[in-house]
Amino acid sequence: MRGEEPLQSMRSRGLQPVQSLCGEASPRGGLQPVQSVRGQEPVRGGGLQPVQPVRGANPCAAAACNPCNPCGPCGAGAVAVKLTDAESVAAYDCIMNQMQAAYAKSGDPIAKSYAGWRRYSRTAYQSDTHGGRFTQNYANAAARAYGAFEDSGPMPAGSQMAKDSFTVNAKGQVGVGPLFTMEKMQAGFNAESGDWRYTLIMPNGSVFGTTKGKNAAGVQFCINCHGAVSEDQDSMFFLPDEYRVN
Ligand code: HEC
Repeated sequence: MRGEEPLQSMRSRGLQPVQSLCGEASPRGGLQPVQSVRGQEPVRGGGLQPVQPVRGANPCAAAACNPCNPCGPCGAGAVAVKLTDAESVAAYDCIMNQMQAAYAKSGDPIAKSYAGWRRYSRTAYQSDTHGGRFTQNYANAAARAYGAFEDSGPMPAGSQMAKDSFTVNAKGQVGVGPLFTMEKMQAGFNAESGDWRYTLIMPNGSVFGTTKGKNAAGVQFCINCHGAVSEDQDSMFFLPDEYRVN
């Protein structure tokens, strides 16, 4: 199935599947050429996602989603898609339910519950290290120290963090991106990852990979990058100052 297709192979074909959740352009979710994000070299696993066929009504057609309609062609023609904070808020409102439903299909406990957790980002911000997608950061109660950011110290076992994401293409169409999660396991789970379990859940609800589980090799790149701050910040990178909640 397409959702299981290795990201690498999709990239090598130079194709970016687009989910036209918010537009009419591609009702069956066709493939469109890759759109480079800020000219950045995409991280492995970044920038690409499986097609999710669009069914039924356009969730972003409602007037409620329309301050400067992020579902519409605000950024049309631009290569690097940028959103104002207001657009980002509106886009998230549009796509939120769809994201949560998509991730919940995985059956993953984090995917099913993160939406009820505290959110540490004011609004979705573009994360170059997660494929240039717009992301938000959530943490469960056990991980409440996350709010102290660089001062949070090592997280206790049971800490769970989730980073949901959406994409915006050059036509301003908003689509579900993957869910990135981290869970602090018991000491001894995996020294290499600082006992964190990283999981990548695709927009069709399939689990792409999880540390020490299914396709662990596919999520090794999470450890490789986050591990850069394993000593100083227990592998957490937090988020840009301007998007932090107080
Ligand atoms: C190239 C570096 C890089 C890679 C690869 C990467 N991340 Fe991140 N991650 C970051 C940075 C930087 C942040 C914080 C800033 C941001 O969100 O852009 C972050 C934030 C996070 C957060 C919020 C918790 C925190 O650290 O503050 C989660 C959860 C997360 N990443 C999961 C993942 C998962 C799962 C993968 C692999 C599928 C992954 N990341 C791959 C760099 C990376």
